[in-house]
Amino acid sequence: MQKLERRDFLKTGCRICLLGAASLTLGDLLSACGTPAKVFSTTMNNNQVNVPLSRFATEDTQIISVQHFEYEIAVRKKNDQYEALLMQCTHQHNQVVRTGSGFYCSLHGSQFDQDGNVKKGPAERPLPRLRTEIVQDHLVIHTNQKA
Ligand code: FES
Repeated sequence: MQKLERRDFLKTGCRICLLGAASLTLGDLLSACGTPAKVFSTTMNNNQVNVPLSRFATEDTQIISVQHFEYEIAVRKKNDQYEALLMQCTHQHNQVVRTGSGFYCSLHGSQFDQDGNVKKGPAERPLPRLRTEIVQDHLVIHTNQKA
C-alpha cells in the first residue's frame, strides 16, 4: 500500500471532510468538488517563490505548492494587483482548502472568505497575507514577510 504524505493526506482528506461539513453552503460544496483551482508546483529560494505572470492569463486564482514548504499559497489577481494568502489556519495552523467562496479548515470548521477574512470561527484572525512584488515577468512571493 502506498504511503500518503501529510500534504497529500490533507488535500484528499479535507476535500472528503467538506462533504460532511453541514455549515457550508451547497455552492461551496459544489465548487469544492467541481473545478479545482490551478495548482502551480515550484521551489523556494531565499524565502522567495517565483510564479510566472503568464499563469494568471486565463485563471485569476492560482494555488502555489512549494516543495518542502508546509503550506500552500493562494494567489489571486484582482484589478492588476496580486494578493498572496498563506493557506494556514490562524486557529491551530492546519492547512486550509479552497472552496468556491473562500477557504475552509477541516480541523475545527473555520471558514474564510476569498480575501482571507474570518467568516466563521473558531479562528479569530484572517489568513496571513504575504508580501509580493513583480520582477520582470514573474510574481515574487516573500514567504517570510507579511504584507
Ligand atoms: S485549526 Fe483551523 S479551525 Fe482549528
